[in-house]
Amino acid sequence: MKVTSHPVGEAGGFAFTAENEARAGQIIARYPVGRQASAVIALLDLAQRQNGNWLSTEAIEYVANKLDMAPIRVHEVVSFYTMFNQKPVGKHFIQVCRTTPCWLRGSDHLTGTCLRKLGTKLGETSDDGLFTVVEVECLGACANAPMVQINDLYYEDLTPERMAGVIDDLKAGKEIPMGSQTGRQGSSPNGAAVAGVAAVVEEALVVGEDDGAEPAVDEAAASSDDAPPTDAEGDEGATGADEPAGADQGMVTADPPADEDAATDEDAAATAPRATDKEA
Ligand code: FES
Repeated sequence: MKVTSHPVGEAGGFAFTAENEARAGQIIARYPVGRQASAVIALLDLAQRQNGNWLSTEAIEYVANKLDMAPIRVHEVVSFYTMFNQKPVGKHFIQVCRTTPCWLRGSDHLTGTCLRKLGTKLGETSDDGLFTVVEVECLGACANAPMVQINDLYYEDLTPERMAGVIDDLKAGKEIPMGSQTGRQGSSPNGAAVAGVAAVVEEALVVGEDDGAEPAVDEAAASSDDAPPTDAEGDEGATGADEPAGADQGMVTADPPADEDAATDEDAAATAPRATDKEA
């Protein structure tokens, strides 16, 4: 006889429907004989779906009996994973992700919007029985933060305004497209992000353009027979013969200025055009 440290639940007798019974048999058959306990999470999920999205004590212990597990072991699994609800929840079970990426992107405001709109506290079910809001840790959609999970679906890139709209739509029985609420595909860059990158690139190009000023020429380098031509004469090695003077300026940021003495030195001559670039 099985012994349990938990009282018998009050939800009435629990048993899988014929359909779920067959499904449970298929799941258990995936595992070697004697290892059927490996099916515990899948069977609990099945039981929770059948039981209105929560697990009564009876449902938990039904699964324990089915897998020949000590009931306490199954209760431990249920109480460990937030995916299992140990009390009834609303028809729309809203899980707000509160981990760092979502928090930085305003998950607190999503939670606040939900609770104010529904008049509940975290974990409570609204009077109409439609909504329960809880906070959970990362749901793995950080690239589209902030986001919430409602029953099985993700709603991402949310704002407080859109969150309120989602609740209104659910109340009205409307279908809401899951995923990003800004319309972007998956986690691909959205319009604003693309525009931001384009602006940065454009700014970098402007910095690298010839500003029209005549580049200063290092006299020592210019008078050296061995010195390569300055940018003003065409720095073929760096930019090609047709490049305007100073066209590679944007790329030259860290070269030290040429030492006057060194500029006359054969080995140092190569640095002279760079110094010219910088001065220009
Ligand atoms: S932090 Fe929210 S999905 Fe990862």
